[in-house]
Amino acid sequence: MKIKNICCIGAGYVGGPTMAVIADKCHDINIEVVDINKERIDLWNDKDLENLPIYEPGLAEIVKRCRGKNLYFSTLVEEKIENADMIFISVNTPTKKHGFGAGKASDLKWVEACSRQVAKYAKGYTIVVEKSTLPVRTAGVIKSILEASQEQKNNESKGNITFDVLSNPEFLSEGTAINDLLNPDRVLIGGDSKEAIQALGNIYEKWVPKNKILKTNIWSSELAKLTANAFLAQRISSINSISALCENTGADVREVSRAIGTDSRIGSKFLDSGPGFGGSCFKKDILNLVYLANYFGLPEVANFWEGVVTLNNWHQKRIANLITKKLFGTLSNKKIAILGFAFKANTNDTRESAAIKICKDLLDEGAILKIHDPKVSEEQISKDLNSLPIKINEENNTTDDKNIEGKWIFCPDIYEVFFEADAVLVLTEWKEYSSIDWEIVSKKMRKPSWVFDARSIVDPYKIMKCNLNLWRIGDGSK
Ligand code: NAD
Ligand code: UGA
Repeated sequence: MKIKNICCIGAGYVGGPTMAVIADKCHDINIEVVDINKERIDLWNDKDLENLPIYEPGLAEIVKRCRGKNLYFSTLVEEKIENADMIFISVNTPTKKHGFGAGKASDLKWVEACSRQVAKYAKGYTIVVEKSTLPVRTAGVIKSILEASQEQKNNESKGNITFDVLSNPEFLSEGTAINDLLNPDRVLIGGDSKEAIQALGNIYEKWVPKNKILKTNIWSSELAKLTANAFLAQRISSINSISALCENTGADVREVSRAIGTDSRIGSKFLDSGPGFGGSCFKKDILNLVYLANYFGLPEVANFWEGVVTLNNWHQKRIANLITKKLFGTLSNKKIAILGFAFKANTNDTRESAAIKICKDLLDEGAILKIHDPKVSEEQISKDLNSLPIKINEENNTTDDKNIEGKWIFCPDIYEVFFEADAVLVLTEWKEYSSIDWEIVSKKMRKPSWVFDARSIVDPYKIMKCNLNLWRIGDGSK
């Protein structure tokens, strides 16, 4: 079967970049990306490509090439479903906040809403592709919604409506999404219908080598996605646990990582100790796995995976605590320059960023935070910290605020953050932070001054040459 019209429901971090790459590689397919969020769609359609709602290196160039040719963004969900022969579900699947399974299970209300819309508006034969990360056996839920409507429509003689459901989880990482989509380690397609699997496989085969397109049963595909994220997050918690041990024993976590990473069975990737993993998915996907394991009566399996999240939470608290200890046990009215708020470099995404928890803990201790990030806005930080920034009078660089203890300031200019700071805390590994002129910085700071490098990106010799005290994650060598 030859696919001519794709509709992707959800214009987020996955839907937008994935569809842009498919459009760029398959000029014969018309792609409609739809979303209920009008503001987001308007930004996808903005003439100024700087305003795209998602920052990903290489994305703007592809959107420029394809938008208005075979790639369209709109809020016309119903109409675009009706015209599509393949529909990708790329909506959000966050952790449930209340009700049965709250705090662990995935909230499938958006996926269910999409399935009902597809059931209502699709015509003829439609292939429905799960792109969102879903609990194993969700395809069953989608199928029953589609089949119920299929029966009803066919009984009412509204045409011969048929569906196939495939699982095609996405493995892209933010910040490298375009490269990951163009050169994936593998593409996974799970399903029962050979015809549907082939139709989706044909699309990827336009640029992905055939041997990298793995075909499995639908449940293996769903579970493989959760498992991949759980294994990746587990590596980070493992190395972060070792970083704490390094700091107490005189070892250096970078040397330990290098030593174990050269073992080809372990491999060298994902062994960088940092401030704890963030991002919208690791925590939610592991908690989902924990929920599923408990649901299927496997508490030992559930406890094993929950430990990965528990360690991550502990590790983030550990960093805030040690900063307080090094600054004489109190942060009251001390200024701390925060370098980076995004959960990793090269993205404007702050979901579950370690910076949120660590900054909140520092503010609770009474610190005054001066926050810089090259891509995250003041409004986003304000939402994440659940508080408003101190307003600075631009003429004389002062504030009318009398009590600024436990408050924060947004600094768009990086060299502004260091002024009168007692400490600098590096939380995101933005490239520009590794080329800071510490000699200039040290002159702006209040003495004794500290640099806390939770990402290991500053040059320790340059820091120490400038008479700054240094703490580096996992470095017990001093
Ligand atoms: P997102 O929140 O950025 O985007 C989801 C979009 O879906 C939102 O814009 C929302 O308005 C829209 N939406 C929700 N319900 C809708 C409906 N009924 N009709 C139309 N639009 C609707 O989420 P995301 O980061 O793109 O993640 C989407 C899924 O992909 C999740 O399941 C996630 O786990 C998975 N995933 C994410 C990443 C990542 O790097 N962010 C990577 C791999 C997989
Ligand atoms: C992760 C996975 O890598 C993707 O394969 C997956 O598709 C995606 O989740 C998802 O399902 O959402 P992402 O969260 O975008 O991608 O970014 P990662 O590069 O995995 O980083 C996650 C977190 O781990 C970041 O906070 C990062 O700083 C941290 N990390 C990563 C480390 O602390 N150390 C490392 O060595 C690697």
